[in-house]
Order: sequence, then C-alpha cells, then structure tokens
Amino acid sequence: MTQTAPQDRAGATPPPRVAVVGMHGYGAQHVRHAVELAGRGRLVFVAAADRVPAAADQLPDGVREFTDAAEMLAEVGADVVTIATPIHTHLPIAELALRAGADVLLEKPPVTSLSQFEELGRAAAETGRVVQVGFQSLGSHAIGELRRMMAAGELGEITGISGVGRWLRTLDYWRRSPWAGRRQLDGVEVVDGVVTNPLAHATATALRLAGADTLEGPAELEVELFRANSIEADDTSVVRIVTATGLPVTVALTLCAGEQETPFVEVTGTAGSARFFYTDDVVELRRAGDDVAQRVVFDRTSLLDNLIEHRATGATLLSPLTSSGGFTRVLDAVRRGRPRQIPSSFSELREDEHGRHVVIGGIEDWVERAAFEHRTFSALDAPFAR
Ligand SMILES: NC(=O)c1ccc[n+]([C@@H]2O[C@H](COP(=O)([O-])OP(=O)(O)OC[C@H]3O[C@@H](n4cnc5c(N)ncnc54)[C@H](O)[C@@H]3O)[C@@H](O)[C@H]2O)c1
Repeated sequence: MTQTAPQDRAGATPPPRVAVVGMHGYGAQHVRHAVELAGRGRLVFVAAADRVPAAADQLPDGVREFTDAAEMLAEVGADVVTIATPIHTHLPIAELALRAGADVLLEKPPVTSLSQFEELGRAAAETGRVVQVGFQSLGSHAIGELRRMMAAGELGEITGISGVGRWLRTLDYWRRSPWAGRRQLDGVEVVDGVVTNPLAHATATALRLAGADTLEGPAELEVELFRANSIEADDTSVVRIVTATGLPVTVALTLCAGEQETPFVEVTGTAGSARFFYTDDVVELRRAGDDVAQRVVFDRTSLLDNLIEHRATGATLLSPLTSSGGFTRVLDAVRRGRPRQIPSSFSELREDEHGRHVVIGGIEDWVERAAFEHRTFSALDAPFAR
C-alpha cells in the first residue's frame, strides 16, 4: 500500500500531519479512516503507535510504527493525534499529545471522572489545542435538523427525550481485553460498562438533542446500575436526567437483550415524535394521530474530517470536549454507583449464532418502559430489580 501525496493548493492550509494511537480493536477503524482521508489529500498519515504490532498491510508505506505513544510524539511532529486506547489510558495519552502541540480526536468516554475532565480541559486551555470526543453520532446531520424542528415547534411542546439501547454482547466480548467489564484495574479507575462505553452514544446524543450536553446541562441526575454477566461493571442500566429547563431525559440500556437491535433516541412532543436511529443516521417522524412514520436518511460528517476543517477554517467542532460535560456527569455518577447483581433466576445463558451470551427475561419491554415512562427499573417494579 502507498499513500497518495496530498495536493497542497496555493494559499490553502497544508493538510495536517496525523498520528494514530491504538491500531487494534476500534483503533483499526481510526487507521482505516486515516488511510482513506490521506488518499483524498485531507491529511498526511505520519505514524501509528500500539503496544501490539500492526497487522500485515495495515499501515501504508511511509507511516512510521511505534510501540509507545510518548516515543512517537517525541519523534514525529504530529498536528493531530487520534486516540483509541483503553479508557483509563485516555487522559495521560491525550495530555501528552496536547503538550506535544497536537489537536486530539479522543475516543469516548473521554476520561474516567469529573476531575479528569477538568484536568483535560485545563491541558487543552494551557496548550491552546482542542479535543474532539469520538461521539460520532454527533456528526450526524440529523442532529441539526431535529434541533431545528424542536426549536420551530414542529413537534409541539417537547415533553421528553428517551434513549433505548438493546444490544447483545457475548461472553467473549467481556474477555477481549483485561479492562473489559472492569470498574477498576490494578487500582486505576476504568469505569467500563453499558452506560459509559458501548451504548454511551445514546446518552451523549440525548443530551445534545436536549441542549443539555455541557457540565451545567443536567440539573437532576440518577443512575440505576445492574449486571447479569459475571463482570464488575453494569450491563443493564437506567440514566434519569432532568435538564436545567425541566425536560426529562431518560436512557435505558442493556447488553443482555435476546437480539441485537438498532439503538435510538426519541424526542417526544405534543404534536409528534422523532425517533433517531443514531448508528444509521435515520429519523422516523410521526405526527400525532398518524399511523405511518416518515423515514428520512441523513448524511454524517466524520469527526476527524471536522477537526481538520476546524483547524483550516475555524469551522465549529461537532463534538468538542465541553459538549461531553453532561455525559461526564453521568459517567461520574456511574463511577460512584454500585451495580447490583441480577439473580441468575432472571437470566439465561444462550448459545446461538452470536455465541454464548446472557439474556435477561423480558428485558426488551422493561428497557422501553423505563425510557418512555422516565422511571428506573426498580420504580417500575421490574422483578429482576426488586
Ligand atoms: N466510537 C465508537 O463507536 C467506539 C466503538 C468501540 C470502541 N470505542 C472506544 O475505543 C477505545 C478502545 O476500545 P477497544 O474496545 O478498541 O479497546 P481494545 O482493548 O480492544 O483495544 C485497545 C488498543 O489499544 C492498544 N493499547 C493499549 N494501551 C496502549 C497504550 N498505552 N499505548 C498505545 N496503545 C495501547 C491495545 O494494544 C489495543 O490495540 C475505548 O475508548 C472505546 O470506548 C469507540
């Protein structure tokens, strides 16, 4: 594989030199995207670091490979660094990158606590660099359109926002990395779990739609955490928020569904509702009284492309660190919370085409009820939560 030389138009900002930290797991996606954008002349892919060597043909010719992010940053002058490493390594690597003079695309969740959030914000301010957080759903053009519709009153008065996530994760998912399913690892907080990691976009997207994504966004916050798998972290949880404007935002999530479903965030109003399938950029609009929903598919701007545009033209960042403040409040509540074990009589271990996975009986309905009735599982008197 070779890298296309970027064309630097006269007078245009030269494409940034981009380095990637974390090449496997989700990092493989970052590598592919860097290769793609390099091919379009949007960036120069200069280096990648991971403790595990790159796969054969993973890196184009000319991309230097390192096993250590600090060594990489000291040797190559990167303008932008993308980070897709385990959650508890985010802050130190992001700070290194900022202090080396780079802007950062940092995977979600950005950090493991509110105090780390403040520390990262300080590092960005001191260095004059920016952090874009990898909530890629915030790059969906559906968000702007939904916010416009809400402001224009096209859904009537907004009465609530509900997030529903029903995913299935196999036992192998929890065994893929030493930090998976952990709240702490060797005394360091990891804060993995359904709310903070795999279905984190549901909360981040709901808060963005509610206009409550900064630190001050949530006025009231409650989390209820359960686990059915043999892990430390939560796999089935409810997040209840009331925003500063009094809007209820409730997200109910599980990784113990019988089937994998497309997660969504729904805006409910007195004149209709809009269901946003945020992984697919699809919105289903339903006017009050209509049986048939109108389906609209939107485009999406990649967060790395947006960060490059921000550097070149000052374009607004789609997922700046400040917009993860509300989410980080939720994460911090999860960090301080204590997941309750669901008795095994309420779940079963299934073996099917997905692999071996735990399924909580009837969880699909409980998740939907919690999200739309804005109540926790225990307030609904779900049997597994008694
Ligand atoms: N935006 C999304 O949709 C999305 C999806 C999946 C994961 N993620 C996020 O990506 C991050 C990584 O998750 P994952 O599931 O791929 O993790 P993983 O453990 O499967 O992979 C992490 C990679 O980082 C490498 N690594 C670990 N420590 C390192 C270090 N100090 N320096 C350099 N490399 C190091 C590992 O060798 C591994 O290749 C997490 O923050 C996760 O939440 C985001």
